[in-house]
Amino acid sequence: MDKQKIIFSGIKPSGEMHIGHYIGAISQWVDMQKKYNCIFSIVDYHAITVKQDPEILRKRILEIAKIYLAAGIDPKKSIIFQQSAIPAHTELAWILNCYGARIADLNKMTQFKDKAGKNQESVSVGLYDYPVLMAADILLYDTDIVPVGEDQKQHVELARDIAKRFNNEFGEVFKTPQAMIKKEGARIMSLLDPQKKMSKSEHNQNNSIALLDDLEVARKKIMRAITDSGTTIEYDPENKPALSNLLTIYALLGNREIPRLVKDYQGKGYGEFKKDLAEVVVKFLANFQNKYNSISDDEVFKILEAGKEKMLKISEEKMKKLRKLIGVR
Ligand code: AMP
Ligand code: TRP
Repeated sequence: MDKQKIIFSGIKPSGEMHIGHYIGAISQWVDMQKKYNCIFSIVDYHAITVKQDPEILRKRILEIAKIYLAAGIDPKKSIIFQQSAIPAHTELAWILNCYGARIADLNKMTQFKDKAGKNQESVSVGLYDYPVLMAADILLYDTDIVPVGEDQKQHVELARDIAKRFNNEFGEVFKTPQAMIKKEGARIMSLLDPQKKMSKSEHNQNNSIALLDDLEVARKKIMRAITDSGTTIEYDPENKPALSNLLTIYALLGNREIPRLVKDYQGKGYGEFKKDLAEVVVKFLANFQNKYNSISDDEVFKILEAGKEKMLKISEEKMKKLRKLIGVR
């Protein structure tokens, strides 16, 4: 038990939340609440690194908060708050832009390269600088552990490097955080292309199962998911990436062990496997959506307000020290 350790993580409200978010990130947070001091944010200033419709953004912020709650984040145990309610995040990001963050580091970020594609010169500066805001989120609260999916590992490592550089200059100001990545399910892949991760921005929505998908739509998506050549149910991410992805989803949403599943499906075909998987997914979603629908907007506003009060206090204390250290106060 390490009740003193601080956990920080967040999701940006920039698209539909899918089972990859649940499996790769949120389910891990739920388990951590028992052992650690947890802080979970809706990182809305990250979302505007790409264009957002203001009305939809507002709706999504509320939706993510409800998804956290429906998944089992307990506001009695953990703090849930909206990033933009705490000005210290952007203030610290600016300080880190000047002390600690280097262009050479940002140029290495693979997510930026993927997202900007060939348009590197015309995307927003915010998209490029996004990892520094993420470092600020993490460092502001003396975070020890950052539970995220595989794709965020590089960003957490950058936060460590920034903290170390800052500390070299000013003494032990920041803790050096560590990423925590799940062994299984840290990268749930698209249902249509097992080489790509399941993603909320992908055009073809059949690639992913949204947490709020209609149940019958979700069932059809599983039935249409691509499989690999061959007929046997095997877990082999190299040679059977599509099937291995489906087995991972089955195991993690159905609370089963992969080797046990493989054994149970010996001598059975893809059709039967997919039908059962669809049932597991639908059952999980039905249960999740029941909880989601039972949470009122008012309840969420109150929880976010309470989170804001707590975080304002903690963040202002840290910022006071920092402003003094760098000489602006
Ligand atoms: P994002 O959608 O990029 O804001 O991701 C929020 C969190 O969910 C991060 O910790 C991601 O690593 C995780 N995540 C997103 N997509 C997936 C996926 N397909 N598989 C596993 N984890 C994911
Ligand atoms: N960049 C993360 C993502 O896209 C979201 C995020 C922002 C985050 N700030 C964070 C995750 C701090 C963990 C800690 O998923």
